[in-house]
Amino acid sequence: MKIIKAKDYVEMSRKAAYYIADQVLLKPNSVLGLATGSTPLGTYQELIQLYQNGEVSFNQVRSFNLDEYYSLGPDHPQSYRYFMDENFFNHVDVQPENTHVPDGLSPNPDAFSADYDRQITNAGGIDLQLLGIGSNGHIAFNEPGNVFIAQTRLVDLKEHTIEDNARFFDSKDEVPRQAITMGLKSILGAKRILILASGENKADAVKAMLEGPIDPNLPASILQLHPNVTLIADEAALSKAGNR
Ligand code: GLP
Repeated sequence: MKIIKAKDYVEMSRKAAYYIADQVLLKPNSVLGLATGSTPLGTYQELIQLYQNGEVSFNQVRSFNLDEYYSLGPDHPQSYRYFMDENFFNHVDVQPENTHVPDGLSPNPDAFSADYDRQITNAGGIDLQLLGIGSNGHIAFNEPGNVFIAQTRLVDLKEHTIEDNARFFDSKDEVPRQAITMGLKSILGAKRILILASGENKADAVKAMLEGPIDPNLPASILQLHPNVTLIADEAALSKAGNR
């Protein structure tokens, strides 16, 4: 795994935005795998800035988001579709019909998930997958102890993740208990992976991802098996990892 160090969140976001913009400049019709959460927020802001400066266009880009809370519709302010529209898609020239986020209201999540994977395959696979990391080492909503290699599917969220994400809701009780998530198989199928980490609360997970055994209890550790992963992390997130 290649590691790019950043001083802080702002520098991490800037470096990540350039990394993604480079991908799109080299291949304007790139298929991007996109992530939500507080970590990539600054990256999207930087990308919007690059777009507004005329340095990059998303006109031909196709995108597939990692996950969505199961039971939240696109109008719910905490749904990941809403997050993506508000924080990125509405501010750049991506064609709305080329953006995909799992349907949190799908009446048949199994069929939906199989179709989502088929659409990714039909688009030629993901060129660049953007990831965050949960403080328990989850990626997308692939929780510790879940089946390690799986396709897109409906999953139950761990209490730890519900507590972490409760900060975005009025109360913990409002956090959905399930989500549709891209599986690690689909994620590992990406040609390149960019994972971001910021803040001290990610330091244990980052250390285990980089130095620990490949272990389903730390889902991000499977990234050690992918040939083209770049981690952009700030000093706080790297503070527990050995000298590099
Ligand atoms: C959620 C998302 C993940 C994200 C994680 C960390 O659980 N499903 O994709 O990486 O939160 O979020 P944050 O970046 O807010 O710390």
